[in-house]
Amino acid sequence: MLKISLKQMRIFDMVARYQNHTRAAEKLHMTQPAVSMQMKQMEATLDISLFERRGKSIALTRAAEDLRQYTGDILQSCRRMEEHLEQIKGGQQGNLVISVTTTANHFTTRILAEFSKLYPKVQISLDVTNRQKILMQLNNYEPDHVIMGEPPKELAAESETFMDNPLVLIAPPDHPLSGKKNIPLDEVLKEKFVNRERGSGTREAIERHFKQSGRQCISSLEMSSNEAIKHAVAAGFGLGIVSLHTIALELQNDYLTMLDVESFPILRHWHLVTRKRKTLSPVAQTFRTFLLEEAENYIQR
Ligand code: PGA
Repeated sequence: MLKISLKQMRIFDMVARYQNHTRAAEKLHMTQPAVSMQMKQMEATLDISLFERRGKSIALTRAAEDLRQYTGDILQSCRRMEEHLEQIKGGQQGNLVISVTTTANHFTTRILAEFSKLYPKVQISLDVTNRQKILMQLNNYEPDHVIMGEPPKELAAESETFMDNPLVLIAPPDHPLSGKKNIPLDEVLKEKFVNRERGSGTREAIERHFKQSGRQCISSLEMSSNEAIKHAVAAGFGLGIVSLHTIALELQNDYLTMLDVESFPILRHWHLVTRKRKTLSPVAQTFRTFLLEEAENYIQR
């Protein structure tokens, strides 16, 4: 069991550095007798002599030189610990656990990349999954934050809206309805649809939208990713409804087109969701501020 204190190690280190009790005392904002007393106590505790007189100055004994290597390591390790704690407290360092729905991942990765450039010491863990799994994770207080299209009603959570999320109707550019204005909803419902899987937030929003006007959108093909839907629509399997944030490149490259349909786009928003009563770490708070202020800048339009 170590019998000397960290305070004694600090004083010893300072006396060793300046080979002078008075200079060490000045640096440590202590009195010279207090420094001398601490060193005497340290010698008594360790049962070794630490200093020897050389004329007017003092020098370390051989044993003290050996000891100084260890106390130096311990003090350096303490400084690193203090710096690390300062960074954790300032939200500059630590672990960030984020879960996002498949659709939100289209922009989240870019936002996290920018966040990571600003805070390179933050360790990020990102889980991309569907709404149902995210609800289970929130229930178990697992993620710091969730990014999803709709805050959960099933459990107590805090939710903040940070960006719009329009759902648009997509078709291949050579589709007969392409380029037409204000197409009636019943006209598009005669078409086949490629839809997201059950459990997807996008799918829930689409079903709710059609139900409001007493209609239903029947899937001829179901797929669990936006990428798969985009390829299926481009290949002519049917029409699709996806978040505008997932198709920037496809619109630019004329791989897909947006149809101008009555009651579209479906207006939704992206939400930052946190389980109620979860204590947010400083890093999680830093990320929250970054997302709420910066998200719009990292969307491809
Ligand atoms: P999802 O995401 O359709 O990929 O589940 C959209 C949402 O969060 O509502």
